[in-house]
Amino acid sequence: MTAILKERPAALGEAAGITVLPNAQGTMLGADIVGFDFDALLPEQVAAVRAAWIRHGVVRFRGTQITDEQHMRFTALLGEFVKHPRQLKGEEGAHDRYEEILIIGNGKRDGKVVGTMANNEAQWHTDTYIYDRPPAAALLRAMQLPSSGGDTYWADMYAVYQALPVAVRKVIEGRLIQLDIVYDGSNRVRVGQQEPDSDDIRLWAGIRHPIVRTHGESGRNCVYIGSEKRSNWIVGLPLDESNAILAEIMDHVRNPAHQWMQVWQPHDMVMWDNRCTMHRRNGWSAEETRIMHRTTTRGERPHYVC
Ligand code: SIN
Repeated sequence: MTAILKERPAALGEAAGITVLPNAQGTMLGADIVGFDFDALLPEQVAAVRAAWIRHGVVRFRGTQITDEQHMRFTALLGEFVKHPRQLKGEEGAHDRYEEILIIGNGKRDGKVVGTMANNEAQWHTDTYIYDRPPAAALLRAMQLPSSGGDTYWADMYAVYQALPVAVRKVIEGRLIQLDIVYDGSNRVRVGQQEPDSDDIRLWAGIRHPIVRTHGESGRNCVYIGSEKRSNWIVGLPLDESNAILAEIMDHVRNPAHQWMQVWQPHDMVMWDNRCTMHRRNGWSAEETRIMHRTTTRGERPHYVC
């Protein structure tokens, strides 16, 4: 049985010459890392960041001023790169030199759009749940920011699991959720998929993951639902029951008591754990440009340990 952490863990404090400052927003999520050396990438500092990331789910490096090469070198120390379909050569989120980097935003080069997701608000999701082994780490770095908007929010899916009534947990533990892989977060048909010819979402193309997931490193259980789409289904449940439980889960995700919010400052980099968090972001004016560079690392195949 996985131990459930009910209390906020103590701050990591000083370790390997870096300081870990838990967030001041009062939730478990989020900590600032101060003093990390992106040039040296010392193994003991990387290990301390990794420990803080597992503990807090989201960590932030303020004003990094690092290059794409440093961003990638650091990412490579955390795991194998995962490439989102939109970052592949020729796609709207492709970087002009490095296929390891996804460009998110509404940039333009020579009149052509550079960046995916434009300036839209993004709904709650975890990254790239369409794969058998979705990402563990995501590292998002601010390259250009609008004067307002584009704030990002994370929800703590361990806390969401703990907030669910025992009766609901009993229903979902050991079950799979079928996640819609036909439409992307902007409701476009994904590359390689086709419009479904049925209204019954259970018949749509999907990927199945455990809805209660045991984190591969912390060993703690959390809820994993990929996105807040109405086209996801808890396999084996009648649709109305599945929809009601997913709506109840989303109520907890939307509860600010389970969230951490980032108002971006120039050169900030935020690194989150996609296995135990969801995130969303606000939109911003189409007149302004926001450009972010993101890398992701491969996670374990989602599993549930009773
Ligand atoms: C993302 O969903 O990975 C991007 C979030 C953001 O643009 O703040």
